[in-house]
Amino acid sequence: MTTISIKVHATTPKDAVGSMAIYSVGLSGNEAQIVGNGSKLAGLKNLNLKSLGVSGSFEATARVNTGDKVVGLIGIGEGITTHAKAREVGGAIGRAFSNVKVLNIDVPLSSAEIAVALLEGIAIVQYEFTSYKSGNKTPLALKTVNLITNQKIAKTDLDRIKILSESLNATRDLVNTPGNDLYPAKLAEIVKLQSKIPGVSVEIWDEKKLAKEQCTGILSVGQGSVRGPRLVKITYSPAKAKSHLALVGKGITFDTGGISLKPPLGILGMKYDMAGAATIAQATFAIAKLGLPIKVTAFMCIAENMPSGSATRPTDVITFRNGKTIEVINTDAEGRLVMADGLILASELKPDLIVDIATLTGGARVALGNRYTGLMGDDKAVAAIENAAKVSGELVWHMPLPEELLDLIKSDIADFVNSRLGNPAGSMLVGGLFLREFVGLASDKSKERLNWAHLDFATAANNDLAAYGYTLKGATGSMVRTLVTLAEQMAATRKKQSSSNLY
Ligand code: BES
Ligand code: ZN
Ligand code: ZN
Repeated sequence: MTTISIKVHATTPKDAVGSMAIYSVGLSGNEAQIVGNGSKLAGLKNLNLKSLGVSGSFEATARVNTGDKVVGLIGIGEGITTHAKAREVGGAIGRAFSNVKVLNIDVPLSSAEIAVALLEGIAIVQYEFTSYKSGNKTPLALKTVNLITNQKIAKTDLDRIKILSESLNATRDLVNTPGNDLYPAKLAEIVKLQSKIPGVSVEIWDEKKLAKEQCTGILSVGQGSVRGPRLVKITYSPAKAKSHLALVGKGITFDTGGISLKPPLGILGMKYDMAGAATIAQATFAIAKLGLPIKVTAFMCIAENMPSGSATRPTDVITFRNGKTIEVINTDAEGRLVMADGLILASELKPDLIVDIATLTGGARVALGNRYTGLMGDDKAVAAIENAAKVSGELVWHMPLPEELLDLIKSDIADFVNSRLGNPAGSMLVGGLFLREFVGLASDKSKERLNWAHLDFATAANNDLAAYGYTLKGATGSMVRTLVTLAEQMAATRKKQSSSNLY
């Protein structure tokens, strides 16, 4: 894994060994045309782009010989008009030219914000998961990115890019690791080892402690596995905290479905089922490394969902720490059971906002396709996350929590059942409604719940199609940046850009 060094220059630095210049090619009508400083280079001007197959379309890359050297071209279509587009273009450059040692990037950038987004895109794709390859493990070559621009870029923005790419890499490493090597105790231990950051402390709850604290959901899901469940509580508590954000993440290190066993195809992506827990841990670490003045408490709800003689039986009833009873009619709807414990614990702290994130339902893919994360919750929490996601360029979509669906998961003998068997209509929404039942009240006298939002990234957490923009194949690291941005906005260290004219 490489962390690249980024430098900003007003003019192109002298050619270094192994360096390559990158210029942009846009579209004028349907014709590809070199734009920006590249258009002043005779060697580039004289090329017949069409015959070289250079299209100029957004994100398309090419290498061309200008006579005395080879340069890289990045297609920018109609232009890099938003920071979201800049990040995508950066991702495309970063993927296509990661085998070059030094890149001198000279493309038109209309603001510092756009320049920073492009750099972020390049940095976050410098990742490869090679732990399980026996052959060639050569790291990616890219070491230095020289950005040629007159925009003034703050050092804090470059530091932030480094912190974000490190936390994305750590998330993707955890999520890509298969279940034989990443089991509950191991996930807890790795996170503990990574937590040596000022202001951060970690508590690991094993089965004994979980029983003492009545974390029934986590215990019930974990009881079928020989590798027992854990809860990891991460606290970042800076001296000058302005507000308190609680995060809850689903950490199923492997989801077989339990006794309600998954079919062979459906089981394949299930090592990714701990992505929510990995995401909140790494987001919390990034928030701490940035030194943001906001308290964060993160609850990783970790278990392995296995079928065995000790596993939970469909129709078992469990009683949660807050007194609610659930009839577990489908052991494959396990995410909401472990998350319920996390939400109860988070609610007891009465934070300003609770955000939970989980690979909760296959219904997220049915409703939203492969790239969007479903967002549910109260209006205030939803607006805050929508705004943070916009600023980060990540895709979330606000989904409803229709009250009538809650009536459909009432149990004959307990408060609720944990799924609607045989009827998948609105399954992502049912998941959200179920979780809301475990969000506590704002105060003892209040009838209002605490501010809460739920993110279902069952499909956005993992990209099983081709890489695009700044999203690689496999674990995506999706939502880490949105959660960090949310914390920045709650701590008011980052400008709110909801009505930004960049959109
Ligand atoms: N881990 C799965 C959800 C999932 C599906 C994640 C596909 C990633 C890709 C979850 O535990 C599950 O099995 N959910 C059930 C819920 C249903 C039984 C209410 C589902 O989506 O089928
Ligand atoms: Zn499941
Ligand atoms: Zn699951």
